Amino acid sequence: MSSNVTWHHGHVSADDRRRVLGHGGAILWLTGLSGSGKSTVAGLVEKTLIERGVLAYVLDGDNVRHGLNADLGFGEKDRTENIRRIAEVAKLMADAGVVVLTAFISPFRADRARARSIAVEGTFLEVHVATPLEECERRDPKGLYKKARAGEIRDFTGLSSPYEAPESPELVIGASGESPEQCADALVAILESRQLIGRSTLAG
Ligand code: ADX
Repeated sequence: MSSNVTWHHGHVSADDRRRVLGHGGAILWLTGLSGSGKSTVAGLVEKTLIERGVLAYVLDGDNVRHGLNADLGFGEKDRTENIRRIAEVAKLMADAGVVVLTAFISPFRADRARARSIAVEGTFLEVHVATPLEECERRDPKGLYKKARAGEIRDFTGLSSPYEAPESPELVIGASGESPEQCADALVAILESRQLIGRSTLAG
């Protein structure tokens, strides 16, 4: 960072924004293998929250890699940069009061730890979407495991690139064949139990 850049403080506080929205921001950081169900679950939670009047937004790997991170590949350095940028964006969005759901493989512990460390304490929940590799490969929604097995994709997470499972995530879902709806309910429940959203935050 340039030493000629100083932080500009605005006139609006997080509490001011909380009054406008009726809730503060949070980050639900979903991590897991490709095909584990991160985007599906994140999308369901987003819909439920919006219906309840909570401003929610999904940041999704496949989409963000078309825009903001279109210059990044899947080598270790690029994945780290991918997650660094997402963590910074998620932090800004949460500061604005949004409940952010991130759906990135985010395979490296150190990168997720950094994402946690820049978030406001108590507002970052790491969620391991722990669908086993065999099940992700059986689903293979984009045909990528097949390609990776055939040697057409390098550095494929779970096969030729490591996935470092979380050691102490706030929540583990998908390990025992729960439906996406059940997984989504568990995420909403943890937001409620941590008082990040109200139990009956209805629109209007
Ligand atoms: S991350 O590792 O940097 O967090 P991210 O979540 O953004 O990955 O992108 C993962 C998605 O990119 C996968 O769901 C898959 O559709 C696609 N993809 C393409 N190449 C790879 C690869 N080598 N490893 C994993 N995912 C890949």
